[in-house]
Amino acid sequence: MEPVSVENVVFGPFGQCLPSLVQGGDRAFAVVDSAVADRFAPVLDEFGVEWMAFRASEERKSFEGLQEIAGWLLEHEADRGALLLGIGGGVTTDLTGFAASVYKRGIRYALVPTTLLAQVDAAVGGKTGIDFHGCKNVIGTFSMPEAVCVDTAVLASLPRKELRSGMAEALKTLVIGDAAMYREAVERMRGGMERLGDNELSALVRRCVGIKSGIVAADRTEEGERMKLKLGHTLGR
Ligand code: GLY
Repeated sequence: MEPVSVENVVFGPFGQCLPSLVQGGDRAFAVVDSAVADRFAPVLDEFGVEWMAFRASEERKSFEGLQEIAGWLLEHEADRGALLLGIGGGVTTDLTGFAASVYKRGIRYALVPTTLLAQVDAAVGGKTGIDFHGCKNVIGTFSMPEAVCVDTAVLASLPRKELRSGMAEALKTLVIGDAAMYREAVERMRGGMERLGDNELSALVRRCVGIKSGIVAADRTEEGERMKLKLGHTLGR
């Protein structure tokens, strides 16, 4: 299957997405959530991407995490032409995006979200950031990734708890943008999320990415329309 693009989001296996990102001869680096490092290492090694495993947790979405990534890039002499990939859940994609947006005043980056939540929300739309003094994402930037590679096949190995929290975010997006699909998904999942097959999950992710991309295209820096996406985050708390 050919990867299909929605804005800068490419759907398909990572191995198909990576070649176009690393062509051109600039060095490529990757921050990979240690939980998925084994899965991605062979492809990264094959394409000569230098990578570091990152032990992701909300506590490490912080200056400490930023220091670890920036220190590693510096140590490996990453220059302004470098591409930085962030592979993992929302902590890794937010933090890597932030590191890329400030390292040497900004380098190119791309994201490979591996959780449902990161695929439908965190990695889409160019919000980067870290937590500080107990406030989530209080330090960050708007910085669009060069690409977001979404492979829904990786969700098969996601712990159920992670799938549930991502599903809440997906349903939120459908509430905002597609009431009919929301009703259909809820109906289908009565009696358990496992009733949603791989194809249905993949269609749901694509729809959510399409809805979010449309909102972000209209209001990249959250001055109006994009505030809708705060439903369930800030609004409604
Ligand atoms: N997570 C909400 C947004 O990206 O605007």
